[in-house]
Amino acid sequence: MLYSCIFFIFFKKSGEILMGMLDGKVALVTGAGGGLGETHALLLAKEGASVVVNDLGGARDGTGGSASMADLVVEKIKAMGGQAVADYGNVANEEDANNMVKCAVDNFGKLDFLIANAGILRDKSFKNMDNAMWDVVIDVHLRGTYLTVKAAYHQMMEQGHGGSIVVTSSTSGLLGNFGQTNYGAAKAGIAGFARCLFQEGLKYNIRVNTLAPAAWSRLTSDIFPEGQNMEELLSPDKVSPLVVWLGSDDAKEVTGRQFMVAGNSVQLISWQAHDVAVKDNTDGPWTVAEIGEKVAENFEKWPRGIQPTKRAFE
Ligand code: NAI
Repeated sequence: MLYSCIFFIFFKKSGEILMGMLDGKVALVTGAGGGLGETHALLLAKEGASVVVNDLGGARDGTGGSASMADLVVEKIKAMGGQAVADYGNVANEEDANNMVKCAVDNFGKLDFLIANAGILRDKSFKNMDNAMWDVVIDVHLRGTYLTVKAAYHQMMEQGHGGSIVVTSSTSGLLGNFGQTNYGAAKAGIAGFARCLFQEGLKYNIRVNTLAPAAWSRLTSDIFPEGQNMEELLSPDKVSPLVVWLGSDDAKEVTGRQFMVAGNSVQLISWQAHDVAVKDNTDGPWTVAEIGEKVAENFEKWPRGIQPTKRAFE
């Protein structure tokens, strides 16, 4: 009898596992038609969440659009025995962002977890960057994150039982990268946005964490070195477990954090300030020459800067 009860709890007819860390939760993943968003969505469903799979279905640079990317991921989730619905909206459009959250509520009754993941690239060295490349990248990443988080945050406040939000930054924004001034600015903006919002969310039990991933996807397939099996070593499904865990109740103490996830390594990024010149504030200001002397005294001990990446474009 005991055995049959356990069997009933853990398995359904198809043999799929029923008990998951996100059972009963409702999640929205933007840009979930491929790459990291897809693996987040599939793992969420495997862990028992109902998922809104948003994707505009455009090209890597954000042009075009189609329903097929989101639909395919929904089909995969349903084939696993999970629950999912597709949404084809543009994260940078306020009405679409509001409708993504409405889609979660209309189909599954609520929203517990938002993963703001959608993104595009328009890489160029700064001397060749034009306003259109700048604007569209800021629009999709920074404004798109703002609009989807805004809609989700208000829904979570209204529900009154908190929630979890993960925004997607990048080492390009947190550390820097050649040819990505537009993208780096947007991704640094997203991280700054999250560092402020998490403080406001504490009052409502809404957690806000930041992901800086590294994964092989159509966005990065020509950035990683060739012939090193990056497709497998840095497959996007290796990033998703941390992200999905952040939506679980076990992560209720974790907010305002920045995680760097590449392959199977999960790291916390936290800032450290290094003394360069410090004296009591009751004293007058340093002279310019004194500052120069202080820098010269400890320059060799400064942390090494980020080494520029060699990129094959102008
Ligand atoms: P991807 O190109 O495979 O996935 C991005 C998805 O977002 C695409 O399916 C695309 O159709 C969708 N999308 C684009 N614009 C959209 C819009 N306006 N509205 C709705 N959906 C839209 O790329 P990947 O690598 O999976 O990237 C996911 C996120 O992770 C992005 O924010 C990216 O900037 C970030 N990231 C990825 C890294 C990596 O190593 N793959 C490194 C650092 C950050």
